[in-house]
Amino acid sequence: MRVSASRRQVLTALAALPLAMSVPFGSGSTQSGPAAPPAAPRRAYFGTAVRPDQIFGDPKLRDALIRDCTCLTPEVHLKWSAIEWDRGRPWFANVDAIIAFAREHRMEVRGHTLLWEQTTPGWAREAIETDQDWGVIDAHFANLLPRYRDSIGEWDVVNEPIDTEQGDDGLRRNVFQRAFGPNYIVRALESARALAPEARLMINDYSLEYDNPVDEARRAAMLGLVERLKRAGAPLDGVGLQAHLDLGKGRLPARRLEAFFGELAGMGVDIVITELDVREADRGLPLATRDARVAEAAREYLDLALAQPAVTGIVTWGLSDRYSWLQEQAPRTKAALAARPLDGAALNRGLPYCADFGPKPLHAAVMGAMAAAA
Ligand code: XIL
Repeated sequence: MRVSASRRQVLTALAALPLAMSVPFGSGSTQSGPAAPPAAPRRAYFGTAVRPDQIFGDPKLRDALIRDCTCLTPEVHLKWSAIEWDRGRPWFANVDAIIAFAREHRMEVRGHTLLWEQTTPGWAREAIETDQDWGVIDAHFANLLPRYRDSIGEWDVVNEPIDTEQGDDGLRRNVFQRAFGPNYIVRALESARALAPEARLMINDYSLEYDNPVDEARRAAMLGLVERLKRAGAPLDGVGLQAHLDLGKGRLPARRLEAFFGELAGMGVDIVITELDVREADRGLPLATRDARVAEAAREYLDLALAQPAVTGIVTWGLSDRYSWLQEQAPRTKAALAARPLDGAALNRGLPYCADFGPKPLHAAVMGAMAAAA
């Protein structure tokens, strides 16, 4: 079935959404006013993760999306547990609403994600584990790939397959690996290709940025995995690097990252920075210092990434600190998010706009890196 962008469908979809997060706009911005228009032309696309209740409930977010983005990705609603928590009764309204909005504003949509253990519904885990039945996965893919064939051009087919600490040969011992063996990734890519012949198919993973033994091992594991997939003839078009930057993890190792991007590109895959944001290390510093540090780290990372021609897109995991999953990661920022009025200074300030949509230095850093690379 094709997705139509009619207003009525959007409204129907909206009716099904949970209540929009409507919070009064609060303080915490170091700057305010509209962001500078994005620089054009761009070599890579720029996108962000969103939820439909945010798009349709917050005009400031909506305006920022229209101003800045040429691509959107559903933050939550394409995940298997959001699509088919009830076996055999898939629910597409939330995704359809995002797609309709993207179409209306000529944006592309990244599909995130087909297989991720963390968002696999309980019934599916059980069926996979007990019956080792690939049909469960085929049915899930068949719900999504044909339906969105004309609207989603790029998919994270497998999310977070790497685990060098508890994994088996660098691969996470997830439900798919336990049921089908390490070959599940090849199989997933082939199943996806059969249903979406034109889509760019990717694997996506995290902790591939810093100079420590874990990230170093994970980079090696990612390179090994891509090499094995390519050797097996798997239809892998690209690699997603989540890039959840973390100021507590020290400086970015420029040479190692350059080499990593170069080696990936050398294997013939595209690279997309899929979930960029910055976790702060010290929220006690003056606001301007905090925002400058965040921007500096992202600019450094993006300049390194965009120096590699295989990098085809940059996606941030949200546009505003008001809607950042990072606030959920610590009790204090989670509490700050719930406080009224919202104090933007009490939040982790790791996204381009502050809570009231004043653009921060990170916004300039991202747009500047993209303009410089264009
Ligand atoms: C996160 C969302 O942002 C949260 O809202 C949700 O509760 C959990 O998932 N890596 C990923 C993303 O690949 O899908 C995750 O998104 C963040 C980490």
